[in-house]
Amino acid sequence: MKKINLVERVSCHEQVASSEFVRQLPKTELHLHLEGSLEPELMFELAERNNLDLPYASIEEVKAAYDFHNLQSFLDIYYQCADVLRTEQDFYDLTWAYLLRCHEDGIVHIEPFFDPQTHTERGIDIGIVFQGINRALLQAEQELNITSGLILCFLRHLSEEQAMECLQQAKPYLEHFIGVGLDSSELGHPPEKFTRVFSQARELGLYAVAHAGEEGPAAYIVSALDALKVDRIDHGVRCIEDEALMQRLAKEQITLTVCPLSNTRLKVFSHMSEHNILELLDQDIAVMVNADDPAFFGGYLMQNFDALIEHLDMTRLQGVKLALNSITGSFMLADQKEKHIAKLLDIASQ
Ligand code: HPA
Ligand code: ZN
Repeated sequence: MKKINLVERVSCHEQVASSEFVRQLPKTELHLHLEGSLEPELMFELAERNNLDLPYASIEEVKAAYDFHNLQSFLDIYYQCADVLRTEQDFYDLTWAYLLRCHEDGIVHIEPFFDPQTHTERGIDIGIVFQGINRALLQAEQELNITSGLILCFLRHLSEEQAMECLQQAKPYLEHFIGVGLDSSELGHPPEKFTRVFSQARELGLYAVAHAGEEGPAAYIVSALDALKVDRIDHGVRCIEDEALMQRLAKEQITLTVCPLSNTRLKVFSHMSEHNILELLDQDIAVMVNADDPAFFGGYLMQNFDALIEHLDMTRLQGVKLALNSITGSFMLADQKEKHIAKLLDIASQ
């Protein structure tokens, strides 16, 4: 895609952006775990509906437990919470609630993640999960004008054989997802552990993405690109530790799906004012903004943008660049991208 000179196209480009300006811009979300959008209120509702006991007495108690010191301390609670998801209706309700939030935030397209192994390990059929999620995604296309492409993530703390088995189980549902990803505990589980399963997925015509360089080193970003041949990197903020990698990411315009609130809640950065997203953006790296696990990290997409405005003085130009990167970095078809970009430039120039 031809590079657009945004300085000429964005009015008052050096001004700090307003939240309302960013909300109106067409945006995509490419790094969102559906299980991570399970709000405590819905968790209690589903526990009651499925006759399950929760280890928490109240919503306040749940929220107090969301005090994380690293990725693993979050994942332990996140997998526990997902246990309330049992039926097709549960997966539909979870996905629909997230889509309503997307609509409020000006999101026009999403490529959300789900973790089938978290559910199949508990004896839930993968078909139930696909059907519930897809019913909501189809409804959103018709009623909210939000398009989507679902991404199936393998859990990297499990073996490659288990990931292969997961891919095998998902094969009858190939028309229901567009790509594979890699998430869960990063340290000690380098991307190359999953080389064969990613190669098989790509042979099936699926896109590939992987979490890398969140807690793990910059070398994991390199091996996600070289061994897994991913189309995008999820997080990737530790690329800043490797100058040659930074140059490669800029040259090849590889999208990094960055999640500011997640990074501060999981102590990847000690404070939002320390976050490097705008520094990467200004070095021409194709970063964009996402919520990751909004129910656990304190906010959806617009709250992530609001944090960048408040703590990093994000300008209108930077906001438009981030929104543009979210469109170009997606797996939408070229004409769909063009349509959203035209609208984006129109709003940015006003
Ligand atoms: N990192 C790794 N695995 C995850 C995350 C994350 O931020 N969220 C849900 N699973
Ligand atoms: Zn994530």
